[in-house]
Amino acid sequence: MRLGVLGSGSGSNLQAILDAIDDGTLAAEVVLVLSDNPDAYILERARLRGIATAVIDCRGYRTRFPEEAQRETVTALQEAGAELVCLAGFMRLIKAPLLEAYPGRILNIHPSLLPAFPGLEAWRQALEAGAVETGCTVHFVDGGMDTGPAIVQARVPVKADDSAESLHARIQVEEHRLYPEAIRRVAAGMAAGGG
Ligand code: GRF
Repeated sequence: MRLGVLGSGSGSNLQAILDAIDDGTLAAEVVLVLSDNPDAYILERARLRGIATAVIDCRGYRTRFPEEAQRETVTALQEAGAELVCLAGFMRLIKAPLLEAYPGRILNIHPSLLPAFPGLEAWRQALEAGAVETGCTVHFVDGGMDTGPAIVQARVPVKADDSAESLHARIQVEEHRLYPEAIRRVAAGMAAGGG
């Protein structure tokens, strides 16, 4: 399974995917890492492994993912031979050009038990809502914000003395186990000829 990974930040989930490939628990190859942020550490993690990288030029828009940039992203992914696209901390909404090029082939990881707490800083939302439990979800991406069908979820307790940082760290431990697991499941479905 040839993976393209898109991220805007530190890339710890990319690292977890690479580690799972290394220890033989995930039969996959990361063929391209793309970021909308030229300074994102996710690019450095990829370079350190000799994985091809590119920066997505979002034409100066802070949050939009312009159609032209999405078309360029599709071209880069296709040229690299990516079969499945993994969003790993990618901060822009995916729309038609990418969704149409990879129907049912784009995954995202989100730090809550969706549909609860979509959007930014979901761990902080959980804390502020007084939730006693939260978690993380890997889901198929559709045109909405954290709305596609869930593939797998993991539960994480919220502790009485949690800060936003301690809760996020506990969720990330689960994320790093969950993303490779979700990719395994989707790859098995694709190999069986399903979606
Ligand atoms: C993760 O918490 C993920 O759930 C969210 O963004 C964060 C990315 O972290 N979508 P990293 O860049 O993989 O370390």
